[in-house]
This record gives sequence, structure tokens and C-alpha cells, in this order.
Amino acid sequence: MKPQAIIFDLDGVVTDTAHLHFLAWQRIAREIGIDIDEQINEQLKGISRMDSLARILRHGGAEQRIDQQQRLRLAEQKNALYVELLQDLRPDSVLPGIAELLEQLHTRDIRVGLASVSLNAPRILDALGLAIQFDFCADAGKIKRSKPDPEIFLAACEGLSVSPVNCIGIEDAQAGIEAINASGMLSVGIGTQLKHADLLLTSTKELSWTCLHTFWLTKHSKQAV
Ligand code: BG6
Ligand code: MG
Repeated sequence: MKPQAIIFDLDGVVTDTAHLHFLAWQRIAREIGIDIDEQINEQLKGISRMDSLARILRHGGAEQRIDQQQRLRLAEQKNALYVELLQDLRPDSVLPGIAELLEQLHTRDIRVGLASVSLNAPRILDALGLAIQFDFCADAGKIKRSKPDPEIFLAACEGLSVSPVNCIGIEDAQAGIEAINASGMLSVGIGTQLKHADLLLTSTKELSWTCLHTFWLTKHSKQAV
């Protein structure tokens, strides 16, 4: 008894781009007189570019003074900064344990999916040398609702032709855990502050096939009782 697919978030799970998003947003926010810290950044994880900007503006009480045209320009500037920061990504920027886990999944014929709302996901996977390791990557450009909506995880399941109940999702964001749970998959959280994850690990170092398989068996034997 084993899961048919493991579906990964990208930023903060496969590589530490969550921090690069923060650095880019911090620069943009400063230009319009808003300070953001790591705590605000937690709320931006898993949220689309425009929704992230809306949250930053709300935090700075600037929703009224920045119109849609200015928002589009700010989002474009943030992305240009972010893409510049991505230039440093290399295969060794993959977080510990992830490359080994991907190998272990392939050996066992477990499908591998990506559920990232980042429009930069394809270029990041290429820079990490991991594009070939994913059987299906949901297209963020086709997603209407950011996490915590389950849309992107359901799109990944559909692309892999698997039912969510046969999958495990891995996330570092609270919105992502809510999205996985709402999709019907089992959720694995990476971090210390996450709530409602079916399994919480402090770091990707703890991820392995043995860990995921044991978790799956535990959950399914409990359901059978
Ligand atoms: C998510 C990140 O993966 O992608 C968010 O967690 C980010 O922080 C979102 O805003 C959108 O990314 P991008 O690359 O399309 O701006
Ligand atoms: Mg993430």
C-alpha cells in the first residue's frame, strides 16, 4: 500500500526561493514607503504575485493610493528584481534531501508532480536541473485562485491522472497546507509554525521515501480501524 504520487510545492520546498521573493518584495515595498518583515512574508507564501502585492498594500494602509496601473508596474518591477536574484540558482541550490527523495520516488514508480503558483516555476526547475524529474507541472498561468484554494493541487492530480486521495502534498506555507487539505490529499508541512499539517517536519532533510511511506501506512491503517 503506497501513494501513487507525491506533489511538491516549489518555493521553500524544492529550493529556498521563498527568501528571494521576500528580498524582492522588501525592495519594492520600501520604494512606496512600506516596511515588511519575515512575519508578513509568511503570509505571502503560496500567494500569487498580484495577491501578494495586495496584501503588502493592505499591510501598509496603501490600498487606496495605489491604483491598478501602478500595481501592475510594481508587480513587474518586483518580478524583474526576483528574476535577477534567480540568476544565482544552480543544481546545488536544491534543498537538502529533495534530490535524493526524487530519485527514491522514481525507483519506486511513484509519480512526481509540481503545484506552484509561480509563473517562474519552469525557469527555476531548469536552473536547478530538475525539470526532467517531474512527471507533470501544473501551469500557474491557468490557475484562477491562489492557495489556500486547492485548484493548483487538483490540476496537478489531473495532469498526473491520479485521484487526490492517493497522493501526498508537500508544502512550506500555511496557505499551501490548507490547499492540500482541501484537495483531499494528505499534507506534509516543512517548518515549525505550520498548523493542520497531517505530518510536520522541521526541514526537507527529514524527507525520504521511508518517512513518507511510514506516514502513509500509519494514516491508512488508522482509517481502516
Ligand atoms: C509562490 C510563492 O510559489 O509563487 C509566492 O510562494 C509567490 O511567494 C508566488 O508570490 C508567485 O510567484 P511568481 O514567481 O509568479 O511571482
Ligand atoms: Mg512554498
